[in-house]
Amino acid sequence: MNLDLKNKILKKITIAIDGHSSTGKSTLAKELAKKLGYIYVDSGAMYRCVALYAMQNNFFKPELQEQLLVSHLNHIDITFKNNAASKSNHTYLNGVDVEDKIRKMDVSNLVSGVAKISEVRAHLVRIQKNMGLNKGVVMDGRDIGTVVFPDAELKIFMTASAEVRAQRRFDELSKKGQNVTFEGVLENLQKRDNDDSNRSDSPLVVAENAKVLDNSTIDRETQFKLALQWAKDAIENKN
Ligand code: CDP
Repeated sequence: MNLDLKNKILKKITIAIDGHSSTGKSTLAKELAKKLGYIYVDSGAMYRCVALYAMQNNFFKPELQEQLLVSHLNHIDITFKNNAASKSNHTYLNGVDVEDKIRKMDVSNLVSGVAKISEVRAHLVRIQKNMGLNKGVVMDGRDIGTVVFPDAELKIFMTASAEVRAQRRFDELSKKGQNVTFEGVLENLQKRDNDDSNRSDSPLVVAENAKVLDNSTIDRETQFKLALQWAKDAIENKN
């Protein structure tokens, strides 16, 4: 049976979640994937891995040596594995668990500069498209509904006020014991939103047909119910 026909019978869809930084995209994506039995892919973690690799190899001298990084892309192996202790997916860079490292502020401060390089994007987008070939995937990022899966049956664009987002991310990082300030977190997410929205290659925009979800004032459970209903409708309407 060909793949298209099989997917129609199983009615598996692709769910693309994009939006501003720290809007809880990965939380919602993980919840949807778990409920639907789909694969979850954190595309931001992949850009963070490339930024960490550049840091670890001293490619910032002091400006990022873009061509040097591009020439190393084939040496950057990124995988996701379930971690039994935390019962969540961890990100591995060349076989090493870097889940904590890639979430730190030093990486957050450099990642958008790495993500604007077209060769980096083309390389990661190729891998991401492959991950979605069989459908049944929830992927979150900045260009999932526009570039990676423009034909996704459900596209969600998440946003919230900058202060609410900074408070959530500040609480999350503080809980992990990271030494951060609210102002530092706020400044980082505003700068990344600005860089991500204004880059020339695959800027962050609301994809055509995306459902905009502003979660400044709605709680996690309400948001999940709403998104799950959208997913059920999209599965039902799949022809
Ligand atoms: O968790 P948060 O929303 O703060 O960010 P992330 O999803 O981990 O993404 C980190 C950075 O990677 C973003 O600020 C973008 O610069 C870049 N990114 C991208 O350009 N395209 C994607 N599909 C995902 C992330």
